[in-house]
Amino acid sequence: WAPPPRLATISPSPSGSSPMPSTPSSPSPPSTTSSSPLPPPPLATTSTSTTPPVAAVAVARKAAPRCDYSEGEWVRSASAPRYNGTSCGATIKGGQNCMAHGRPDTGYLHWRWRPRGGGGCALPPFAPGEFLELVRGRHVAFVGDSLARNQCESLVCLLASGFPAELVRGGNGGDGGDGDEARKFRRWVFPSHNATVSVFWSPFLVNGTEKSSSSSAAAGAGGLDHNRLYLDQPDERWAGELDGIDVVVLSAGHWFLHPAMYYERGEVIGCHHCPEPNRTETGFFGVFRLAVKNALREVITRAARSPSQQQKLAVVTTFSPAHFEGEWDARDACARSEPYAPGEKEVGYMDREMWRSEAEEVAAAAADARVRAPGRVEVEALEVTAMAALRGDGHPGPYMNAFPFAGGERARVPNDCVHWCLPGPIDTWNEILLQLVKRWRDSSSK
Ligand SMILES: *[C@@H]1O[C@H](CO)[C@@H](O)[C@H](O)[C@H]1NC(C)=O
Ligand SMILES: *[C@@H]1O[C@H](CO)[C@@H](O)[C@H](O)[C@H]1NC(C)=O
Ligand SMILES: *[C@@H]1O[C@H](CO)[C@@H](O)[C@H](O)[C@H]1NC(C)=O
Ligand SMILES: *[C@@H]1O[C@H](CO)[C@@H](O)[C@H](O)[C@H]1NC(C)=O
Repeated sequence: WAPPPRLATISPSPSGSSPMPSTPSSPSPPSTTSSSPLPPPPLATTSTSTTPPVAAVAVARKAAPRCDYSEGEWVRSASAPRYNGTSCGATIKGGQNCMAHGRPDTGYLHWRWRPRGGGGCALPPFAPGEFLELVRGRHVAFVGDSLARNQCESLVCLLASGFPAELVRGGNGGDGGDGDEARKFRRWVFPSHNATVSVFWSPFLVNGTEKSSSSSAAAGAGGLDHNRLYLDQPDERWAGELDGIDVVVLSAGHWFLHPAMYYERGEVIGCHHCPEPNRTETGFFGVFRLAVKNALREVITRAARSPSQQQKLAVVTTFSPAHFEGEWDARDACARSEPYAPGEKEVGYMDREMWRSEAEEVAAAAADARVRAPGRVEVEALEVTAMAALRGDGHPGPYMNAFPFAGGERARVPNDCVHWCLPGPIDTWNEILLQLVKRWRDSSSK
């Protein structure tokens, strides 16, 4: 895979004339309040030109101090996770239950995120009762791909460590085939607070057809070898339920790396690893941005025309980098046992561009919501890309399968260096989510 050349010039310039308002020691994160210009959309036919300039968004933001958790460092912690692979075993997908699958080291469980902001922006440990009180009588929905599901399962486990959860939709099932299907749309209720947490499978956030995977029972003969995305069409499987959702957390990205055709109003607007002959490669950055933009627009539009006076929070969890070091089936594809040290690992080019797209679209959507649905929708970025990039130690690796070395050491073994062990670093995403929900409830109760 190679990035489209047109975008290769948009990293912050070292000339000193960079518009990025970062401090000299900062690696220039694409902050939502950045005044940097939008990069040119790689797809000339998409409608990203209607996006308001980010500078205007920064001006429109409330003056209240906001905590930025996106940059910082991982520090050792003696405290144990709130749950483990046994206590929450039925909720956690087997391939991410590293304890149950025999991962021998536990050091990766003992790190806390210390945001650079410090002071009033310290990140408190997750508090199940506080989270449930904030969403009492409300519905928190995760929408996206398997990383959305990973974060959802983390939240359910964190909450269930304090209050019983009831699975009311979908099934726990096994690890493949029908088990996975039953896990794509699960829903839990916390009766103590009449709160609902759910997950909706939607790997493109918009309507699309997934390429068939050889392991999927649903993929019959003649299945697609590429994805098809219909950027102008909402995915009704979740968008159709927005009226009943109070907090929606969007999380996607990795499926955009696959070969795909992109359509808008019935026309081809681009492709990646183009499966059709005589089509021009457009890359996926522009389409990913458009998918995030259109998904957020759908949330705002439906909230604006909803007869209820319900107040919503839309959150975008930014791209979570993979950590393959060499071949995916090498013994040590992601065998680290500690996070990278500060400065040891830069956020990769693609990861940063995905993050930047999401942060900028969130800022634009937040401004759009203030105009079209004032007081009804708040839009926030949950910026995890930098903290995730440091956690090459937090993936299942070979423990995506149970006891992979039971038959002795192997040179070749399949690795998962994309998803996160539960418990694991992704629990921190939900500590930040708690703070975002708290800020939203504080502002909407005024
Ligand atoms: C997992 O948590 C349960 C409940 O807190 C506890 O009884 C059990 O000992 C823990 N198991 C491990 C392996 O830590
Ligand atoms: C529980 O919350 C739902 C909204 O999610 C509400 O319609 C219902 O009345 C609540 N039930 C109770 C018993 O409070
Ligand atoms: C996707 O779009 C097609 C064609 O408009 C429609 O028939 C289908 O119901 C949509 N699927 C979802 C999940 O929204
Ligand atoms: C691709 O374009 C070339 C040149 O225009 C043409 O000769 C060829 O028939 C096209 N192939 C397909 C499969 O459309």
